Amino acid sequence: MSAELSPIDKAKFVAAKRAVAFVEPGMKVGLGTGSTAAWMVRCLAERVREEGLRVVGVPTSTRTAELARKLGIPITSLDDAKWLDLTIDGADEFDLNLALIKGGGAALLQEKIVATASDQMIVIADAAKEVAQLGAFPLPVEVIPFGWQTSKALIEELLVSMDVLDRRVTLRMNGDKPLITDEANYILDLHLKRIGNPRQLALVLNQIPGVVENGLFIDICDIVVVGHSDGRVVVKDINAGSETQERIEFAPALNIFADMGE
Ligand code: A5P
Repeated sequence: MSAELSPIDKAKFVAAKRAVAFVEPGMKVGLGTGSTAAWMVRCLAERVREEGLRVVGVPTSTRTAELARKLGIPITSLDDAKWLDLTIDGADEFDLNLALIKGGGAALLQEKIVATASDQMIVIADAAKEVAQLGAFPLPVEVIPFGWQTSKALIEELLVSMDVLDRRVTLRMNGDKPLITDEANYILDLHLKRIGNPRQLALVLNQIPGVVENGLFIDICDIVVVGHSDGRVVVKDINAGSETQERIEFAPALNIFADMGE
């Protein structure tokens, strides 16, 4: 594997690299899911290898668990860890208040449980994920398979009274079958185009029978690290009300690509 990455992977890499610098020895760290979070797992594994950093990871999906195991990050379950110092994860969209849409990778349920059980959540993203208003990315909602069409109809009915621009709801497929999540559920994608009141929508969606969780993360994320392909990273801290910019040297150790094959 060559060290020549696409601009988008460079942006994801520098965001991941900066976020991993927040990890301190002895921390219990939630490990997110998705292509950006995979860079974070690689960067964290590099610190474990090179510095002997002592951490325990709690993965948010079977995919992330496999990658962490392969790269030598010690992992445990959330039930064993109980409470985490920090979770680092990607997002599909974030707004000015650091409200998020997550679940593009179908792992929103574990991601929300793990992030909520953490002192701090840091999101890593490329600049394209920043939006003035959430909703261009379809909002994932995890539902149990039993009666999913009823849950879908109830969601469609609910959306009529919500401040959204569109109301199309689709079942996420994996080929010609419904996609099955790690918890053996289905994902409904809500094509809303614009979500006027994400807080209200997040609350009412979870009142519908059959809905397990939705992909709106409100008041959960503390910091977003935005990566750019030229090595710039912008750190937005909602609690400190600060925004700082720095540059990350783009020099990943060659073995950081070890899991990606030739
Ligand atoms: C996984 O379910 C998602 O929440 C991901 O964190 C999100 O989709 C971002 O993924 P990428 O980093 O691959 O864009």
